Amino acid sequence: MKISLEQNITIMDPCACLVIACHEQGQRTANAQKIEESSGGFLSRFLASRDFTAEPGQCQLLYGVPGIGAERLLLVGVGSGEKLADGKLQKAARALGQTIAKAQLTDVSLALCDVSIAHRSMSEAMEIWLRGILDAQYRFDQHKKPAKHPRRSLEQIHVLPAPENSATNQEEMQGAIATALAITKANDWARDLANQPGNICTPSWLAEQAVHMAAQRGIESEVLGPAEMEELGMHLLLGVAQGSRQEPRLIVLHYRGGAADAAPIVLVGKGLTFDAGGISLKPADKMDEMKYDMCGGAAALAAIQAAADLALPLNITVIVPASENLPDGQATKPGDIHRSMAGLSVEIINTDAEGRLILADALTYAKRFHPDVVIDMATLTGACIIALGHQTAAVLGNHEGLVAELLHAGRSSQDRAWELPLFEDYQEQLKSPFADLSNVGGRPAGTITAACFLSRFTEDYRWAHLDIAGVAWQSGENKGATGRPVPLLVHFLRQRAKAV
Ligand code: BES
Ligand code: MN
Ligand code: ZN
Repeated sequence: MKISLEQNITIMDPCACLVIACHEQGQRTANAQKIEESSGGFLSRFLASRDFTAEPGQCQLLYGVPGIGAERLLLVGVGSGEKLADGKLQKAARALGQTIAKAQLTDVSLALCDVSIAHRSMSEAMEIWLRGILDAQYRFDQHKKPAKHPRRSLEQIHVLPAPENSATNQEEMQGAIATALAITKANDWARDLANQPGNICTPSWLAEQAVHMAAQRGIESEVLGPAEMEELGMHLLLGVAQGSRQEPRLIVLHYRGGAADAAPIVLVGKGLTFDAGGISLKPADKMDEMKYDMCGGAAALAAIQAAADLALPLNITVIVPASENLPDGQATKPGDIHRSMAGLSVEIINTDAEGRLILADALTYAKRFHPDVVIDMATLTGACIIALGHQTAAVLGNHEGLVAELLHAGRSSQDRAWELPLFEDYQEQLKSPFADLSNVGGRPAGTITAACFLSRFTEDYRWAHLDIAGVAWQSGENKGATGRPVPLLVHFLRQRAKAV
């Protein structure tokens, strides 16, 4: 994919497909006005047909428009109103991406800098347009036989200059292009890892992918196996893995882009490569989707990749505990008690609440890196889907400032999160008659009690947890990983990098 920032091309020049924004009835963007004039009123005649209302989310591809150089004209609806609100911009950007993908366009010229967006600079808006277009190109078809007529994908995007009177900062625009490409690359990689079936994406395979990515970028990597885990006393992680023939892995990466003495940002991602529930077996319906239980790990790996590709001046450590959770004669049984690396004993009431177990040992391991902050992300609870649906991730933490940063990063990147409370009162629900802690807290407030469990292992540093159970993948017709929360994480890291 090539994206070029053009200086000397106008919307009248020949091109394969010119993309312009269109307002609802009456109003006209600067570029729409120019085309209206040079095409002898073609645009207003077309709009009069009412086939296209120009609401955000509507797009229309037109052929043979007179008086312009473009072979095709693609109209993107941006609705009415002076400035486009964020949510509408995203809707328009997504629709544009889908239209381009569906029509299998290979070369598009974007003349979208005449649309002003509420609270966003032109380069920020361009980043959102580009992300919408690039995301829609994603496919995961490596296990299908080659198609008879291979799909054509987008090869070239030309970004046309803004209208004369508005100031576009070239450097900022180049930055937006580089960022959109790096985020998309990372996001696509997270989606690839997650979409891979459980018989391929095992803990050791995931570790190999991580080590390979790291080696290409000078990121340091280390992978621990069961022997090292035993030595460290990671019996929660080992206890989850003991029902599987696949050995667990603890994947550890260090990106050192910051000052030698700068404390690292530590990202911990749940890497459960298949979650059958263990002895507390899940029902068969949709169980295939539990290959996505490593989406948190994939997002953490993708975020450090993007940080390296963007050369962010930060130190970042990623820790991914990777395991399967299967029923077996050797598996952990309900009522079993395991001792965590931190020393707390845990009664395993439900073997399906395994994510918090493998994360607890990984979060304890994080201490040795003297982190500035620790952020974990995990497809942790079905309860999170009930609370926030598939639109919004949950965030909980022990540090207000860190939680606020993550909420802000979610808003800026259109990869939103919402805070749930981590009040002390909920800790009650995790009491066990036989151990220091139970691994489940009953049905009420399931997302919160899961975070409460984690909080017992994160007392020594600033920490926040993202429950991404609802947002990491889509079910149904368009089943597949979304890559979330990679955009949120990359925005968070870029924001941190600006403050260095
Ligand atoms: N990976 C699941 C959570 C999950 C379930 C995510 C469905 C997305 C869709 C997690 O390991 C799990 O099974 N959690 C249990 C916890 C319960 C036993 C306390 C759950 O949410 O049902
Ligand atoms: Mn589970
Ligand atoms: Zn799970």
